Amino acid sequence: MAQNWTPSSWRQKPIQQVPEFPDKAALAATEAQLATFPPLVFAGEARRLKKQLASVAEGNAFLLQGGDCAESFVEHGADNIRDFFRSFLQMAVVLTYGAQLPVVKVGRIAGQFAKPRSSNVEVQGGVELPSYRGDIINGIEFSPESRIPDPERQMMAYRQSAATLNLLRAFAMGGYANLENVHKWMLGFVKDSPQGERYRKLADRISETMDFMTAIGITSENQPSLRETDFFTSHEALLLGYEEAFTRIDSTSGDWYATSGHMLWIGDRTRQLDHAHVEYFRGIKNPIGLKCGPSLQADNLIELIDALNPANEAGRLTLICRFGHDKVAENLPKLIRAVEREGKKVVWSCDPMHGNTITLNNYKTRPFERILSEVESFFQIHRAEGTHPGGIHIEMTGKDVTECTGGARAVTAGDLQDRYHTHCDPRLNADQALELAFLLAERMKSGRDEKRMVVNG
Ligand code: PEP
Ligand code: CO
Repeated sequence: MAQNWTPSSWRQKPIQQVPEFPDKAALAATEAQLATFPPLVFAGEARRLKKQLASVAEGNAFLLQGGDCAESFVEHGADNIRDFFRSFLQMAVVLTYGAQLPVVKVGRIAGQFAKPRSSNVEVQGGVELPSYRGDIINGIEFSPESRIPDPERQMMAYRQSAATLNLLRAFAMGGYANLENVHKWMLGFVKDSPQGERYRKLADRISETMDFMTAIGITSENQPSLRETDFFTSHEALLLGYEEAFTRIDSTSGDWYATSGHMLWIGDRTRQLDHAHVEYFRGIKNPIGLKCGPSLQADNLIELIDALNPANEAGRLTLICRFGHDKVAENLPKLIRAVEREGKKVVWSCDPMHGNTITLNNYKTRPFERILSEVESFFQIHRAEGTHPGGIHIEMTGKDVTECTGGARAVTAGDLQDRYHTHCDPRLNADQALELAFLLAERMKSGRDEKRMVVNG
């Protein structure tokens, strides 16, 4: 167990990105009540994910992590969750088929509510108000009342996370994820796009293989892996009072686990070695992520790895790299070399979203070609360094939104206003997400073929 650590020891450290709640007594009462509520996930599930991530760290699996930038109270509907899950399963099947590696599936969902912000204030029409920090903290509406941090929102976020997770578990285990449904995951608006056509061809091949397997007696009835899938949840653990309330001792191992989600990560703005977030994370046993942006130096990364994963356990730590298409070549190799030199076991994942945000027509957007370009560089650099490009971390939705520009069915700057629904950062729509999955599958396949050629001389 971590030395001198308790679920509340972070309170003694400096902290970034945490709002001032005006009513401290109400906040304390909410946190005390949350601490009595049932956990959302179990330690055994988090251990299972850690094991699967260990296999990614060893080069034998691929991590697909994605979902909303910020979940919202108004977008909480069954259709949204189902469409996200369909789109995510489509990506996963494309990747599994292309890479011929197991895909570890982790949603940014059922708890992804709190947002770090680059500015504490937002100005509109000459009026300045505190920034929106996610539905778990304050409201997005631009009014003084709505922007006051309200602890009651943590109750709503907990209830919404529980309901979302309940539906996701049903989808993952109750037949929806059955590979026999591979054609049915196609979303209406993707059907007539170029990606839809590519996906249909792949689904036909999978169905044919399934028919063959049925003929020899392997069916979804006798093979659970054909009808069920492991699906895990994750979020940025920014609001540490909320996280503390859900930090519980696992009776099997006697260890502390965060039970608000399977995997939690530390944001790029809150990864200071001697600050509160790193303090909290070092004591929980879940698999965790660390966002790595352009300001992270190699020696600082090694110190963080020592603090967060002192036992050098594979699967414990995922480095989520988010440099930007034009900065990845300068930053990633030196981090990889330091990690390799020190013999640290990590999962390398690429977040091609957060370093590629620009403003067009007053909308925050991300050009799809820059996203693809960062992913391409990430793969090339890992191939050159002889390390495993282990995963991808994206902001996406199953809806036909117009938030990121580009893609095969190009969203233009002028289209952004049509269906711009995100509460925070721009997400890939289902079409763009599928296009990205096909690109990834191709890159992984060519990497595999290269490896085979080396092995076979
Ligand atoms: C995010 O993942 O939504 C986020 C804020 O990322 P980062 O901490 O990398 O900026
Ligand atoms: Co974001």
